Amino acid sequence: MDTPTTSTILILDFGSQYTQLIARRIREFNVFSVVLPCTVGLAQIQALAPVGLILSGGPDSVYDAGAPSADPKILEIGIPVLGICYGLQFIAHHLGGKVQPAPRREYGYAEVEMVSESRLFHGLPGTMDVWMSHGDEAKELPVGFVLTAKTDNALAAIENIERGIWAVQFHPEVAHTRNGMEMLRNFVLDICGAEANWTPEHFTQTTVQRVRTLVGDGHAICGLSGGVDSSVAAVLVSRAIGDRLTCIFVNNGVLRKDEFRKVQATMRESLGLNVVAVDASERFLGKLAGVSDPEQKRKVIGNEFVAVFDDEAKRIFQSERGSMHSGGEEIAWLVQGTLYPDVIESSSVHGPSHTIKSHHNVGGLPAEMKLKLIEPLRDLFKDEVRRIGRDLGMPDEIIERQPFPGPGLAVRILGEVTAERVAILQEADEIVVDEIKRAGLYRKVWQSFAVLLPVKSVGVMGDQRTYANTCVIRAVESEDGMTADWAPLPYEVLRTISSRIVSEVRSINRVVYDITSKPPGTIEWE
Ligand code: XMP
Repeated sequence: MDTPTTSTILILDFGSQYTQLIARRIREFNVFSVVLPCTVGLAQIQALAPVGLILSGGPDSVYDAGAPSADPKILEIGIPVLGICYGLQFIAHHLGGKVQPAPRREYGYAEVEMVSESRLFHGLPGTMDVWMSHGDEAKELPVGFVLTAKTDNALAAIENIERGIWAVQFHPEVAHTRNGMEMLRNFVLDICGAEANWTPEHFTQTTVQRVRTLVGDGHAICGLSGGVDSSVAAVLVSRAIGDRLTCIFVNNGVLRKDEFRKVQATMRESLGLNVVAVDASERFLGKLAGVSDPEQKRKVIGNEFVAVFDDEAKRIFQSERGSMHSGGEEIAWLVQGTLYPDVIESSSVHGPSHTIKSHHNVGGLPAEMKLKLIEPLRDLFKDEVRRIGRDLGMPDEIIERQPFPGPGLAVRILGEVTAERVAILQEADEIVVDEIKRAGLYRKVWQSFAVLLPVKSVGVMGDQRTYANTCVIRAVESEDGMTADWAPLPYEVLRTISSRIVSEVRSINRVVYDITSKPPGTIEWE
């Protein structure tokens, strides 16, 4: 998104797993940062007018077949450059130094010692623990470079002040590098002189302004899921165009207990959104009858969603036709809550990553309508979306909501999804959420929920023998949902959840706890 009055730090991605982390760290200083693939052209770089450039880490060696490369002229555009790990080797290699395989791959903690003054390390101790991960090392420095830090057996940091180039062999962006944030702050605020004014208010102001100009007197629709991304996107757009935004909220029959009613109330009453609520649960459950394959469930729900959404969108735009754009040319907009990780992912040097589960996302574009996309969050990471939502005064119950999959409870009911099984799981799920919140753990765990198995077992209640369903409790800790570990919930919490489910939910007589991490498991059971 254009934020012309803000300083931008550009990060060129050479394929490191930590590239996004660099961008997030810089934004923590209220400075805007952008990630582009290393192959981007000079003209595009210059158009962004960045005040500083960071070259990310990457594969083991600049000599690897197909190793990512960039135009070496990026080192001469007249703004400060910071090379990190592979970035350092790229700099050394292209400016006439010598890079060669290290005698052994360095991976993990290393102690570095400062050997000369550097603005990059200003205010930091003379020795520091850092995180290394590299196969090559720079053996000879390019002309004009000096060594500023070293480990016992290798160089750790170099710089050339005349050229405005700094480079470190370790990763300042990872939490294991103590003082890493200070180094990045020295680079971004002191060396690049970036202004720390990329705040939630600034973002909201420029976004609202931009959407207002873009949409003019047109109309927009937005699919709401009740989750944080679509809600924040909708609120931002409604700040810009008011009632000309219509939100569509579909009951797909596999929402949480009472969610259809609660989400509508919050969206209308607390957020003042113009919401069309469509109860299509029977339609969805009808299509799901007899389906037990997980991918098939996703497809059925995805297709049905697009069909319902399209019908509603047509209806809304038709009824507003009279009041729409007067120039004869109808222009309608579709709001989507796309986030920055998806944007980076789809332009990454590795290309879009392999899809393990086909995640369906809101909204197909009805073909015959001229719908254009507005993606007000496409520059933001999830935690930044939460910050914006908070700044917009949105209630915690939306901002702090744990992720919930598009196909909802359908992928938590193993086997066939029926209205009866949905009702059973809704009851169990509500108890889990309730107890996790009561224990103050809702924000600490990434997700916590119940799964209904197609397995019955024998139990005894009072004098009665029972033969009923089994439910699994799943609670995981995670940073981003890509990897996760099962949460060590206190026994007391597990005990309460289990006894409440068995006594309150008719037809569940056994509760088990899932202790599988991701990988090799996934977070959802389907
Ligand atoms: P898995 O189960 O793949 O989930 O470890 C990772 C994250 O993605 C969510 N998830 C989905 N979200 N549509 C969605 O919108 C889906 O089909 C879907 N499947 C999984 C899951 O809840 C977790 O946060």
